[in-house]
Amino acid sequence: MDRKKFKLLTTRSNEIHSSLIKRGADFHRGKPDPEVVQIARRAKRTFGNGALVIDVGGGQGRNALPFLTRGHRVVLTDLSQVALKTARRKATALNVGKNLETRHVNKINRTISRVEKKAHVVICSRMLHFYKPLLRDALLKQMQEKTRLGGINIVITHLKHGKTRGAFRNAGELKELYRGWKINLTIGEVRHSKISEKKLGRLVTLVAKKT
Ligand SMILES: C[S@@+](CC[C@H](N)C(=O)[O-])C[C@H]1O[C@@H](n2cnc3c(N)ncnc32)[C@H](O)[C@@H]1O
Repeated sequence: MDRKKFKLLTTRSNEIHSSLIKRGADFHRGKPDPEVVQIARRAKRTFGNGALVIDVGGGQGRNALPFLTRGHRVVLTDLSQVALKTARRKATALNVGKNLETRHVNKINRTISRVEKKAHVVICSRMLHFYKPLLRDALLKQMQEKTRLGGINIVITHLKHGKTRGAFRNAGELKELYRGWKINLTIGEVRHSKISEKKLGRLVTLVAKKT
């Protein structure tokens, strides 16, 4: 994909999300995904104090908070400055702002490549459906490279169904990209949100451990 197309895509996504947030949208009412909460609860036992988490396209921070409130550090990247501001506000209100680092992404292919350290946990929730396979796979590869041995990736995304928008045709396609990792995969019902109603397919959740 050439630069112009990158710019167009990022600008559009930024505008859409920023305007939704300004109009009061809080993705999934601000509640974290249950699989994220589960890993956050175990993070201290598994990785020790102050684990490093990267939340890719982390939006308003709903999945960052369960880690932040348990004393872990989160680098949250997003295209939308408005989303990042909200995430910082939420973390500060809970007195854990110092553990959150927000990074504005202005190029899709720089989504996480600029995070210097390898992380214990990398999350990517409900973001991959914006991208065509080439970019989607490149992003997942970056996530894998930025994960320490023994670390975890949590990928939550939609499956294509008929004309609905989704990142993969079936869960096997995602699983294949995590070949060699220890995988736990669940497929849920279509979860309608006010924002995405009718547009997205079933939700697949992959929790994979780098071995
Ligand atoms: C549907 S929201 C999900 C937000 C968050 N992950 C959650 O589950 O609550 C998608 C988010 O991805 C962000 N986004 C899209 N493409 C991105 C990219 N290449 N890098 C960083 N953020 C991106 C959007 O700005 C938006 O905040």
